[in-house]
Amino acid sequence: MRFAYADPPYPGQAHLYRDHPDYAGEVDHAALIARLVAEFPDGWALSSSSPALRDVLPLTPPPLTRVCVWVKPFASFKPGVTLAYAWEPVFVCGGRKRTREEDTVRDWVSASITLRRGLTGAKPREFCRWLFRVLGARPDDELVDLFPGSGAVARAWEEFQRRPEP
Ligand SMILES: C[S@@+](CC[C@H](N)C(=O)[O-])C[C@H]1O[C@@H](n2cnc3c(N)ncnc32)[C@H](O)[C@@H]1O
Repeated sequence: MRFAYADPPYPGQAHLYRDHPDYAGEVDHAALIARLVAEFPDGWALSSSSPALRDVLPLTPPPLTRVCVWVKPFASFKPGVTLAYAWEPVFVCGGRKRTREEDTVRDWVSASITLRRGLTGAKPREFCRWLFRVLGARPDDELVDLFPGSGAVARAWEEFQRRPEP
């Protein structure tokens, strides 16, 4: 199977990446989701932010899309922000159907943010491993990482292909 993971700059936050070589302004999420639906019928996942939930969810295909959650026990607590932003929605569509013998996967993961990757929004290994299980991915599948950033997702995928067991 061929899956995609899209981790674009979240709506309204593209400016965080304006010094990056791949920066191209705000990402058109409607076009991105249309691409995911058209090119990745086996399954895809899209990360976003809790403030963007109300705008992004209506763009996803009902009733197929699940809203999963990444909870961050350790997150960036900014001065003057009363209520921290300590979780993110992960929209998931499709994926491999599990057999009765396989473990059920939770629709949330708890994993602290990474601090040392030098890129805002780099995804931790635990998050990636959970995402691969959510999609029902197997080592001989293909994962297309549409917004590679630090390369953390590709590294986790290579590790998963070598060692798929938890
Ligand atoms: C949230 S980060 C991806 C993080 C990545 N998943 C990781 O774990 O390191 C988003 C990436 O998209 C890039 N980017 C910024 N604007 C973009 C645009 N308009 N189109 C494509 N990529 C863009 C950023 O430079 C950044 O590398």
